[in-house]
Amino acid sequence: MDEKKNKEIEKIAIVGAGSIGIGWAIVFARAGYSISLFDVDQIQIASSATRIDERLTLLSRHNLLKEDIAVISSRVSATADMKLALSGAGYIQECGPEKVEFKRDLFQELESHLSDEAIIASSSSAIAPSRFTAEMKHPQRALVVHPGNPPYLLAIAEVVPSAQTSEQVISKSVSLLESAGMSAVIVRNEPEGFVFNRLQGAILREAYALVRDGVISPRELDEIMIKGLGKRWSLIGAFGTSALNVRGGIKSHVERMGESYWRMGQERGVNDPWSSDLVEKVADDISLRFPDDLWEEKVLQRDLGLMKLTQLFQENEELNF
Ligand SMILES: NC(=O)c1ccc[n+]([C@@H]2O[C@H](COP(=O)([O-])OP(=O)(O)OC[C@H]3O[C@@H](n4cnc5c(N)ncnc54)[C@H](O)[C@@H]3O)[C@@H](O)[C@H]2O)c1
Repeated sequence: MDEKKNKEIEKIAIVGAGSIGIGWAIVFARAGYSISLFDVDQIQIASSATRIDERLTLLSRHNLLKEDIAVISSRVSATADMKLALSGAGYIQECGPEKVEFKRDLFQELESHLSDEAIIASSSSAIAPSRFTAEMKHPQRALVVHPGNPPYLLAIAEVVPSAQTSEQVISKSVSLLESAGMSAVIVRNEPEGFVFNRLQGAILREAYALVRDGVISPRELDEIMIKGLGKRWSLIGAFGTSALNVRGGIKSHVERMGESYWRMGQERGVNDPWSSDLVEKVADDISLRFPDDLWEEKVLQRDLGLMKLTQLFQENEELNF
């Protein structure tokens, strides 16, 4: 485990011990880092060890831990003393409320207690980092590192720099995340909602509209996601799904469905057709994963994955239906 650790950072401070703070504590403690959890709420501090142990116990039962629970949990301490929590930390993961004014004040306060090298990352779900880091003394050290929930099961984080974040801070954050078993994707230009929540928002906007218009019930809409779209997406993603839907890959799919998708967008006031250059760009990238000459083979591999998911989903039926 230790050889995987990022050599420059030993201690990580987590600010806010709610669901995401606890989740990050598990991710980093599991990778061997020493964690200091800070919260202003005594109840959150007092319950943090139990909440972490409960989750570690479930992870262990599913063979998702490489060490004993006690070894991992011994790396985490919780305190209401901010200075103590931050002392010696090389990386801070902020997990407080999703309010821009709160994060703006907190980021200035945090940096007043930290050495110049320490990186300050926010777990923000949607707020562009420049909106709360611009007034810092050293905004080059700050960025967003947005996880999915729960972070210890969704091994992906969006790394979102502001224009002022240094490239060194971006690459150090990426290597820290990778050392903790997370894939890190860099999201440029800090769009509100980044990519995770922009995609989620697009789906939810349409889902609400369909329910509003009496097209479908909420339960049936989720059934389409669970048994249909979401099942394939979880294996090969949105572009991957298009590429394997139609022989000929992305371009054939766009020829068949593109205009119809564009008209559906227009119905909702979105006029954003896909140019041939854009389709070409997507097709070039996706064909590296799904080359035309391997199409049949990849379709069978997808089906094999769907069979395994089908078996797994049968065990989880009671969660939904
Ligand atoms: N819940 C999700 O699905 C999710 C997913 C990804 C990112 N996020 C983001 O992560 C952040 C935290 O979300 P959450 O769901 O864990 O919220 P939460 O409400 O569960 O936890 C927030 C914690 O911050 C603490 N807090 C409040 N003021 C504080 C302060 N001044 N200093 C230190 N701690 C303070 C609260 O006591 C609480 O424990 C938000 O920015 C949220 O948007 C949430």
